[in-house]
Amino acid sequence: MDITKQIHNHSTWFTLTNDHDVSIIISDFGATVIAINTPDKDGNVANITLGFMHSHYYAQHHDYFGATVARVAGRLGGASWNGHQLDQNSGTNHIHGGDHPSISYSHWNLIKLIKTDGQIGAVLQYISPAGQNGYPGRLSISAMFVLDQNNKFTITYFGNTSAPTLFNPTTHIYFNLSGNAQRLINDSDLQVNADEIAETDAANVPTGTLLSVAETPFDFRQKTNLGDALSKLPNGLDTPFKLNTQTDSKPQLRLQDPLSGRKLAMHTNSNSLILFSTTGFEGDFLVDGTRTMTSQLGLAIEPQMLPDAPNHPGFGNIVITPDSPMIYQNSYTFN
Ligand code: BGC
Repeated sequence: MDITKQIHNHSTWFTLTNDHDVSIIISDFGATVIAINTPDKDGNVANITLGFMHSHYYAQHHDYFGATVARVAGRLGGASWNGHQLDQNSGTNHIHGGDHPSISYSHWNLIKLIKTDGQIGAVLQYISPAGQNGYPGRLSISAMFVLDQNNKFTITYFGNTSAPTLFNPTTHIYFNLSGNAQRLINDSDLQVNADEIAETDAANVPTGTLLSVAETPFDFRQKTNLGDALSKLPNGLDTPFKLNTQTDSKPQLRLQDPLSGRKLAMHTNSNSLILFSTTGFEGDFLVDGTRTMTSQLGLAIEPQMLPDAPNHPGFGNIVITPDSPMIYQNSYTFN
């Protein structure tokens, strides 16, 4: 197992490599997952996330490729909380922590590198001053990235605040298990342990109603081909799935690409996953150095508490106070 460091103009990239051909690149710009390289069934190693080959592209492309998104990742209706006006950067609503440059496009500090018998990792920290993006409280966020010898990659966010504020971060990784974005995500099979999704309005803000997935294209309780499901969803997926369980021994999501044989299993201690299929996301730029951005090129899997939680009873608590630091933990196992 090994950690190497590559210094670029505006960021440092840390590569975590285990003894099973899995390597993960983390950048201190936005605490971003730049790449996750895993072998296919024949041992060919390729990147299973969408990203860029050069560090300067990360500052240019504002669609959160692999980035840590904070303080609050999902949408907040009306962009306000407890009398505080937050950035209105999605119509009159708030998304992805607010206006640029936001936490996702800021430099984080390396606190330590981790090297133990079975684990390697890095801890990055960002101190968000009181008032940033409209949020009260000085919020310290630590992001711990750890890869182990069982091909499990765990991201843990620790929050500490000087005053009550909101904290609901995510990692905005776009997955494509074909490797180096060779094929669309339509070939992949998806399984999500969610009986319900959050209904959203025209601005994609939750209404507060939870809808059953039964007999809808959002029913992924059994393994389902993504291409089949997306053919019934003209706008694709940009949908909060309410998970049946928070922390469980069973994965809450499984994604697999039968052609390459690559599989991903996910666990989270949050109560939802926002799934975004990049439908309609066309761009004249290359991802992974190989392919022009297009619909269905990636599936963003965003673990977090249900979006707009402060405005809907039952959606969960995302208020952090000085007396109650918060920990969010998400793990991704590859095989
Ligand atoms: C949001 C989408 C948005 C995308 C890129 C997702 O988390 O739900 O609406 O287009 O991120 O910013």
